[in-house]
Amino acid sequence: MRDKLTISNGVEKIVSLSKRRGFIFPSSEIYGGFSSCYDFGPLGVEMKNNIKKAWWDEMTKKHDDVVGLDASILMSPEVWKASGHLTAGFADELVECRKCHKRFRLDEIVNPKSEIRNPKCPDCGGDLTKPKKFNLMMKTFVGPVEDEASLTYLRPETCQGIYTNFKNVMQTMRLKIPFGIAQIGKAFRNEINPKDFIYRTREFEQMEMQWFCEPKKVDKFFDFWLKQRLNWYYNLGLNKKNLRTYEVPKKELAHYAKRAIDIEYKFPFGWQEIEGIHNRGDWDLSNHSKHSGEDLKYDPSAGSGQEYFPHIIETSVGVDRSLFAFLCDAYQEVKGGRTKTTKSVKEIEVLLKLHKDLAPVKAAVLPLVKNKAEIVKKAKQVYKLLKSDFICQYDETGSIGRRYRRQDEIGTLFCITIDFDSLKKDDVTVRNRDTMKQKRIKINGLTSYINNAIM
Ligand code: GAP
Repeated sequence: MRDKLTISNGVEKIVSLSKRRGFIFPSSEIYGGFSSCYDFGPLGVEMKNNIKKAWWDEMTKKHDDVVGLDASILMSPEVWKASGHLTAGFADELVECRKCHKRFRLDEIVNPKSEIRNPKCPDCGGDLTKPKKFNLMMKTFVGPVEDEASLTYLRPETCQGIYTNFKNVMQTMRLKIPFGIAQIGKAFRNEINPKDFIYRTREFEQMEMQWFCEPKKVDKFFDFWLKQRLNWYYNLGLNKKNLRTYEVPKKELAHYAKRAIDIEYKFPFGWQEIEGIHNRGDWDLSNHSKHSGEDLKYDPSAGSGQEYFPHIIETSVGVDRSLFAFLCDAYQEVKGGRTKTTKSVKEIEVLLKLHKDLAPVKAAVLPLVKNKAEIVKKAKQVYKLLKSDFICQYDETGSIGRRYRRQDEIGTLFCITIDFDSLKKDDVTVRNRDTMKQKRIKINGLTSYINNAIM
């Protein structure tokens, strides 16, 4: 059974590390923050880019029948009528506590299988109002006049731009079914109850792939893509014990879905969805065809008279949510320390054991001492050499142990120390984050050494 009620929280350490080390900041912090919005700092944006690159490469390079797209966020409001987001099911049931006036999504405080008829406020035990439908679409106006005619919406999922471009992409790329279209982009939902740091926010980024196929092959491809997606997480080092799949019961399915399996991660606050694999049938193409008047059927060979609406398998994952899972999974506390800077066996050092492809900083250059001009000069030369190929940091402040410790905390793969021998031998010490083994490497071989290690 899925964890419905998420009681905070256990993520304080991740929140604190994220803020302290420049991964994630609250939005508009100098004005007291802005509800459920977050800014990705220098390390956060690098990690986010790494996740997006890993996904994009997986989808478009590994599969030669998947192509990319970058559709606009603002679309004709007709899209949202056709997709069902304005009419059918894109609404949550909202209840409000009559005592403390907090609002909740009904499905989060009542397990759909439970017999509870009159749930109480989970915060203060007060009585709740009757559930009301609340549409999650964010409204905006296009142009200078704010009226019904200029009303449109920020997209709540990126995939609709893929469906409206289905024909454009198929024709310009001369594709035949089956094929996929991949896209990464921002999405917006006016969530009733954003929560758990970046887990559920009102602005987030999605990585979605829509696979168009023959209706009779839909089950085969559903299994195929589910397997592919699970392997993606495993290959990026996510602990298998912290991943599971959840078959969404029929009555909980989104309005467009015939079948859905969620990939769930075991967050400190419970098992929660990070990605959905959906069989959307012909819901999207047939509805867009009907509403737009554009025939979106596929004809296997011109004039065969065997046209059909391709069925769609969708893989949909949040960038922010997966980043959160990768951070939680990589976070380790080492008692007694690993850098000899701890003062007692009880003291804890943090190690962020991110996969090499996701680690925001690949190498840190550390002069052994900062009061020897030749060593500092050499270290800066090494930093300059590496900086054009890798995201690097230069750090000369504090003891070498403390500097290792700072780098371990952000998951830096290699610490490169320049010492007195470096001046004579033109080499450096390279410390591996995971093994802590140290190796002397010639400076002129350093770039290829790191390249080989992170390939
Ligand atoms: N196109 C299908 C779709 O959007 P979804 O299950 O609603 O399906 C897919 O969302 C993924 O998008 C989720 O698994 C999650 O990773 C991410 N996501 C959805 N809503 C989110 C939110 N409010 N905050 C952060 N990520 C969200």
